[in-house]
Amino acid sequence: MTVPRFVAAKTQGRKLAVLTAYETAWAEMFDAAGVDAILVGDTLGMVVQGKSTTLPVTLDEMIYHGEIVVRAAKHAMVIVDLPFMSYQVSPQQAVASAGRVLKETGAAAVKLEGGVAQAETIRALAAADIPVMGHIGMRPQSVRKLGSMSRVQRDEEALLADAKAAEEAGAFSIVLELIPRGIAARVTRELSIPTIGIGAGPDCDGQVLVSYDMLGLTNGFRPKFLKQYADLRAVATSAVEAYVAEVKSGAFPGAEHSHD
Ligand code: KIV
Repeated sequence: MTVPRFVAAKTQGRKLAVLTAYETAWAEMFDAAGVDAILVGDTLGMVVQGKSTTLPVTLDEMIYHGEIVVRAAKHAMVIVDLPFMSYQVSPQQAVASAGRVLKETGAAAVKLEGGVAQAETIRALAAADIPVMGHIGMRPQSVRKLGSMSRVQRDEEALLADAKAAEEAGAFSIVLELIPRGIAARVTRELSIPTIGIGAGPDCDGQVLVSYDMLGLTNGFRPKFLKQYADLRAVATSAVEAYVAEVKSGAFPGAEHSHD
């Protein structure tokens, strides 16, 4: 998958399946299972590092995980999030941060949060030939201003303005997070770049989910938009319980696991 093929999916009517990944085993599995793109999201801070927001994640951490995922992905396009305060200071800071991401990870593209407010920055990245994905609606990096990471964003005209500003500035695609289905459908109709929804209904050009959430690895996180496709936390817990019990009873290791 390349950026041009990703963009062409919209006119070809091919839905795009995107998942987040942060490390080798998962990235290899998602790649083999056929996702179009892997997002190394700054949700890393929450699902991998166990923090309550994405704000503490650093550019070096994104680059560390981005490089791991790029090495694991043979077919899927890899997009790496620019973390909080790695691009908000100025367009020059954004180009320097995104340039490091592309050079040091081998990723195809970066993602940043914001529409109208980030148009100048998106333009600077596009002018440096750095493919950039926008992200509007609920923006986790703005949690301190928004007050919550779970509130559906309903200001239709502001959302449309954000989406159009990102497209006009040169974004190749845009994430729509937590916005009503009807607004997401309108944004999708009015843009020529693919929209990738999370909590934005079925009319987007593609969908993204946080892999740890859809696989049931995160503890108790069940927003309405999330479909949990597996309960891997339960599977892993019972496997580890069996291991602990067998070590304590002496059943493991058996003769077949021992060298003569
Ligand atoms: O960081 C992330 O994982 C994201 C997705 C929720 C779209 O931005």
